[in-house]
Amino acid sequence: MDRGAYAGLMSPCSLAGKMLRNRLLHASMSTQMAEGAGVTERLVRYYANRARGGAALIVSEPLSMARHQDVATRVRAWNDDQLAGLERWAQAVEAHDCRLVAQILERGRGRNLPGRNPEAIGASALPDDLSWTVPRALDVGEIERLIEELAGSSARLQRCGFSGVELSAAHGHMFHQFFSPHANKRSDQYGGDLRGRTRLVAQLVEAIRARCGKQFIIGLKLPGDDGVPGGVGPQEAAAIASELTRSRNVDYVCFAHGSHARSLEQHVPDGYSPRLPYLSLMRTLRRAVPGIPVAALGRITDPAEAEGIVARGDAELVALGRALVTDPAWLLKAHAGRAHEIRYCVGCNTCWDRITAQRLPIACDNNPRVAEPDEVDWRPQRAKRQKRVVVVGAGLAGMEAGWVAAARGHQATVFSRSAQTGGKARLRAQLPGGEDLSSVYDYQLAAGQRAGLGIELGVAATLSDILALRPDCVVLATGASMIAPSWLSPEWAASVPDLRTSIASVLRLRARQAGTAVLYDMDHTEGTYAAVELLHARFERVVLITPRDSIAQSAPLVTRQGILRRLSEKRIEMAMLAELRLDDEFEDGRVHYVNVYNGDARVIDNVAFLSWSTPRAPESGLAGPLRESGIEVLVVGDCRSARGVLEATREGHAAADTIGNE
Ligand SMILES: Cc1cc2nc3c(=O)[nH]c(=O)nc-3n(C[C@H](O)[C@H](O)[C@H](O)COP(=O)(O)O)c2cc1C
Repeated sequence: MDRGAYAGLMSPCSLAGKMLRNRLLHASMSTQMAEGAGVTERLVRYYANRARGGAALIVSEPLSMARHQDVATRVRAWNDDQLAGLERWAQAVEAHDCRLVAQILERGRGRNLPGRNPEAIGASALPDDLSWTVPRALDVGEIERLIEELAGSSARLQRCGFSGVELSAAHGHMFHQFFSPHANKRSDQYGGDLRGRTRLVAQLVEAIRARCGKQFIIGLKLPGDDGVPGGVGPQEAAAIASELTRSRNVDYVCFAHGSHARSLEQHVPDGYSPRLPYLSLMRTLRRAVPGIPVAALGRITDPAEAEGIVARGDAELVALGRALVTDPAWLLKAHAGRAHEIRYCVGCNTCWDRITAQRLPIACDNNPRVAEPDEVDWRPQRAKRQKRVVVVGAGLAGMEAGWVAAARGHQATVFSRSAQTGGKARLRAQLPGGEDLSSVYDYQLAAGQRAGLGIELGVAATLSDILALRPDCVVLATGASMIAPSWLSPEWAASVPDLRTSIASVLRLRARQAGTAVLYDMDHTEGTYAAVELLHARFERVVLITPRDSIAQSAPLVTRQGILRRLSEKRIEMAMLAELRLDDEFEDGRVHYVNVYNGDARVIDNVAFLSWSTPRAPESGLAGPLRESGIEVLVVGDCRSARGVLEATREGHAAADTIGNE
């Protein structure tokens, strides 16, 4: 076989005597697609699609491996109830010459959200650093029974056709809690020195090996640096990895970072993180596990990066999490010389927010077809009837609709008021941490151009412009605009524009400005804080004002942690529970803000910049008149209801996928 430009990545290898056709691993990600503790068609498709797309080994989401882990969204493996579904799942993946490895994960005290968790178990009765959950410390008998149960469930999975198991012993989950001197204060054989703290996992590995034999893959996801003072830093991580692999019972190791603490963000590095943030630490840690294959992990999104890792010998394997949610055909496309057709992960962590905070099936801002039957290397099907389609708006929703409509054979034209496609996402991409977002609209533009999409830039299409084209169908993607805050009187409205307008001019400023930038925040999504960081780079002082008791409440928790950390490090002043007051003193550069409960007022002098970021109202004014003219109108994205990128790409895509199907 010609392995071409990706010779390293495409080279086969073996683990526990099982062949891997290449070096690509799918890292474990909870999908929230199981129902009633059973396998669903959607779940099977999600995994089969990633196998079909090229992964050599897939680590599944965590299963319910012990009776106490029973929840509807984890597939039950601790008894025989779900054997048929488990077999179907394994078969669907292994049929693509891809090894399916089940993940064993016990959260212990580790929780993302605050609240009382009376069911939590753990090493010691000490609070989790994030949720403050206090677990019940397991006694020795319970630990022994848990090991037996987990090993028994592993053997059951082996009978169902799974190729192995991975122990999720990082991320601040229970095995990690046992490793950590900060979380494990036990005085029995499962605490104390390194051997004591690693004993549970060592015994579990031994028990699984004894039950399942040599030809069963056992992988370990271990902490690299958990970012918790007194926890597992790089040195301790190396010692743990060395201790646990001495028995030679472990077939591969990967290292993950962060914990259930303020460092949780580290496990899913976002657009603010450098590329391959953990590669150099991994190079150091792998010295502790000589002869054991290591899987590189952490914000690897580009096939060239992955190839470099294998070719240089940094790691034997490359594990991808989010990048394979975005494009299951990541490897297939790269191998076929079509890397430019990959839809890239942009590190937004919408996927993570979906499965944790929203408890909804995993979804992706840049993949509108997650787990669809035709998801892998999807190509638009020609529509039954070709139509004249006009798309109004060239933001993410409009461009997604435009390229899909054109690729389905419609005569499609997109109108954009601005001179470039991408809409507000293009502005966001120019702010700190936003660069990767450009790949969403770049992909759409390239796909549109390939499909012959007409793109009219710099044209604010009016009703008569649209009608003149005699369209059969109009996709309205005209976005939404911020609603002026109540403190902004008409007298000041022209000199105090919204954040989107004013930040574009800040981007053009070259020199640092004297004075204070004040931003009123009733938005709480991530982009607002990216703008704050730009203001910090351009103004002497920045004050952020919000009527709520905290900031960034509409950002995923892991994103919020990064926002809070960076804004704190930059000494951004934040006034919570505050409303702005604008009066004549604004002419002298002075504004006031008052506490929303007690009315206490404070003053900010020397104001050089003032703006606001607020909830948005849809700009859907064209919908009614177009419908009255008898034209089919599909309203998508923010113009339907102001939300995020996920809904924009999804609705634009779905709309274009239905046009002409009747
Ligand atoms: C949506 C989502 C769910 C995840 N669920 C798990 C999980 O259940 N078990 C686990 O060990 N890691 C889980 N992770 C962490 C990933 O396995 C991986 O370590 C992390 O995403 C970093 O890899 P990436 O940068 O390639 O995405 C999850 C990550 C994401 C984004």
